[in-house]
Amino acid sequence: PVIRREDYAPFAWAVPTTRLDFRLAPDATRVTATLDVERNPAADPSPELRLNGDSLTAESVTVDGAPATWRMDGPDLIVTLPGERHSVEIVTIIDPSANTQLMGLYASNGMLCTQCESEGFRRITFFPDRPDVLSTYAVRMEGDKAAFPILLCNGNRVAEGDNGDGTHWAEWHDPWPKPSYLFALVAGDLVANSKPFTTVSGRKVECNVWVRAEDLARTDHALESLHRSMKWDEEVFGREYDLDLYNIVAVSDFNMGAMENKGLNVFNTKYVLADPDTATDADFDAVEGVIAHEYFHNWSGNRITCRDWFQLSLKEGFTVLRDQMFSQDMRGEAVKRIEDVRILRAAQFPEDAGPLAHPIRPDSYREISNFYTATVYNKGAEVIRMMRSMVGETRFRAGTDLYFDRHDGEAATCEDFVRAIEDGAGVDLGQFRLWYSQAGTPRIAVSQMVEGDTLKLTLKQTVPATPGQPDKQPMPIPLKVAVHSRSGALGAEQLIVLDSAEQTFDLPLAGPDPVVSINRGFTAPVVIERSLSREDLVFLAAHDDDPFARSEALQELGVAHLVGAARGTLSAEEQADGEAAIIAAFRASLADAALDDAMRGELLVLPSETYLFEAMATGTQLADPGAIHTAREGLKAAIATALAGELQAAHARTSAIPLDDPAGRGARKVKTLVLGLIAAADPATAASLAAAQYDAADNMTGRQGALMVLCSLDVPEREARLAAFYERYKDNALVIDKWFTLQALSFHPDVIAHVRKLAEHPDFTIRNPNRVRSLHMAFAGNPKGFHKADGEGYRMVADVILALDPINPQTAARFVPALGRWRRIEPGRAALMKAELERILASGNLSRDTFEQVSRSLEG
Ligand code: ARG
Ligand code: ZN
Repeated sequence: PVIRREDYAPFAWAVPTTRLDFRLAPDATRVTATLDVERNPAADPSPELRLNGDSLTAESVTVDGAPATWRMDGPDLIVTLPGERHSVEIVTIIDPSANTQLMGLYASNGMLCTQCESEGFRRITFFPDRPDVLSTYAVRMEGDKAAFPILLCNGNRVAEGDNGDGTHWAEWHDPWPKPSYLFALVAGDLVANSKPFTTVSGRKVECNVWVRAEDLARTDHALESLHRSMKWDEEVFGREYDLDLYNIVAVSDFNMGAMENKGLNVFNTKYVLADPDTATDADFDAVEGVIAHEYFHNWSGNRITCRDWFQLSLKEGFTVLRDQMFSQDMRGEAVKRIEDVRILRAAQFPEDAGPLAHPIRPDSYREISNFYTATVYNKGAEVIRMMRSMVGETRFRAGTDLYFDRHDGEAATCEDFVRAIEDGAGVDLGQFRLWYSQAGTPRIAVSQMVEGDTLKLTLKQTVPATPGQPDKQPMPIPLKVAVHSRSGALGAEQLIVLDSAEQTFDLPLAGPDPVVSINRGFTAPVVIERSLSREDLVFLAAHDDDPFARSEALQELGVAHLVGAARGTLSAEEQADGEAAIIAAFRASLADAALDDAMRGELLVLPSETYLFEAMATGTQLADPGAIHTAREGLKAAIATALAGELQAAHARTSAIPLDDPAGRGARKVKTLVLGLIAAADPATAASLAAAQYDAADNMTGRQGALMVLCSLDVPEREARLAAFYERYKDNALVIDKWFTLQALSFHPDVIAHVRKLAEHPDFTIRNPNRVRSLHMAFAGNPKGFHKADGEGYRMVADVILALDPINPQTAARFVPALGRWRRIEPGRAALMKAELERILASGNLSRDTFEQVSRSLEG
């Protein structure tokens, strides 16, 4: 069945309190749920109470202590209630050890834990499992003391005791009413890294990061990140924590990154554990970012939750924006912004251009798990960021203050958020609401004319048709612009808002030969279509005062050249001139003493193959992944041949900077980037430099970088270092994930054979999502291997979907979008991809998750 946003109706019953009693055992946990229910005066009255279930059977159902009138309706249980107010008690028995979907209560590494968002609570007990039913929870759990010495739940622990028979118990109470998706329970053999945080009003909060004993030494970064997040949210959004306890638990079997359950976050170990020997600089950043994200949900998500799942971006878009702002403040605005835009373009732009395109507030779904997307999260963040750019920091804060104040304790909508920003910031966002309802990435065609001392900048916007939305209306698009002069004079930045299909803006000239810098800082999530001369782009790359715009100019230069090369439309002269311009820009970036390495590293990244695919498949044109790969590798080789000396010098210079030097991070980034370039022209030199880098490395960033470069080369150093890496880290699952990923992502000619063999490795298991992601999801993102012209890569991914779907449908469905891109690809590969989707569909018996994604991919 398809669920529609317009069909929302409030639930007929309120559940002011919920008592849960768990008798924990890995293969038969007994759950007694007692729900105090009363009629919801705001809803149409109904004598029937619908309690959602998923694969549950009720052992008993009583109402006010007496046998009840009840029946099953598919997976749900319906109790007939005669009066206004009742107490409903239900007993279920569940088997966590058989729960391979990792939704509800499941076993991981000997411990028991939960994941309830979105609809996992209904796999624990029958309940109105919808986010607009808020209840206060009191929980008692009891279990074997040796297996589960630590018993955790939401809120505060109010009592505990020992039964003297090898079992013990604990009682927890969460004073804050919450929807069922925020419920969490953990029982296991865990140890904590603890450090109290004192809030701005003086509340002392006990903060714990719970892990298995062998992981304790890698938890400091997570704990410190939590403290920094708590402080930042007080300072920047005026949000203070509201319990005396904040628990984070790391589990190694987890479908997503982490979960913001009230007072008891459950995390994928990947986003908790970090030390320099086992985690890269990027891993450290990811831990900090996800810890912050889940913490920020305490206000944007928990105190104010979603009315229904169509409003998911209300909490996710806003919380992503908040975690991005936090990370910008922690580690430098420019580089973080460049990274976030790269992610948006790699993950969200393709989604917006394909069969799975949906607005940030979708109108319908079959399976809500399929809508935890880059659109809802990352484009959702961009949409709120645009509001902030338009009204400015101070008024935006007035808007968010009003939002938190007005809706505290409620299940709210995206519309509530927009109205609070309107009222608090004093702005009309009438037309801006289209960003919530229209899918597709707007494209803006730019043209310009000089008239006296004015530049007339004409912008035309089009929003492409997307499934179910053939016609679009113009949206307000805020763009920061500056008009520089080729004489070197830089123009002042100003914000313009394009809010009709076509508009001309008069901008002052800073001098002769104007060069327009547009969408500075990426104020709007749009595609800018313009043809600046190579000279203008080289000028912007070297001189623009907005670092984002500098990197953007280099990307534009690379995209124009590489798409032309892939299409085969460049004359020999254009080919040579394009290469020369890019080489000159790289030489300038390498030589520019005013740049730090962190920023230099951003300038030395060529547009990714995914991004080139998007740029090549525009309008009626199709992408050719094979041609893109050849063109991009060819350009790398040309750069590396022309700049051999400079690149080796950069490698030597950055290799000399020690681990804890403040400049070390940037240096490590540049070091591996230049190594990758050298490899394109001179594999032998690159192999010996990489082997030396590997052997000398005293940290994971250097080691992984060297191994990544070696993995794509057919050289003896490759096998030796892969074996050494495995030997050194074979007891550390997260590092072994990297070992799988590096091989799955390689451009080695035998990559498919390697992946097939790795799937047979004793350390591979399809049951652990991190491991499946490390091997097969990585492979599905390998532009060379996945798009092998004979379709072997597509077949392998389709086989994974079929094998995984009965075990873990949520994770299986996440593989589908890679195959779903078939319509925008050259006909040979398109037919092979489509055939794999058809094969999956024909297999029958698919989960709702996978069925929805495959059928949309074939229809759209
Ligand atoms: N709310 C979690 C987070 O962003 C993600 C939960 C994902 N759940 C799911 N069923 N896909 O932080
Ligand atoms: Zn989130």
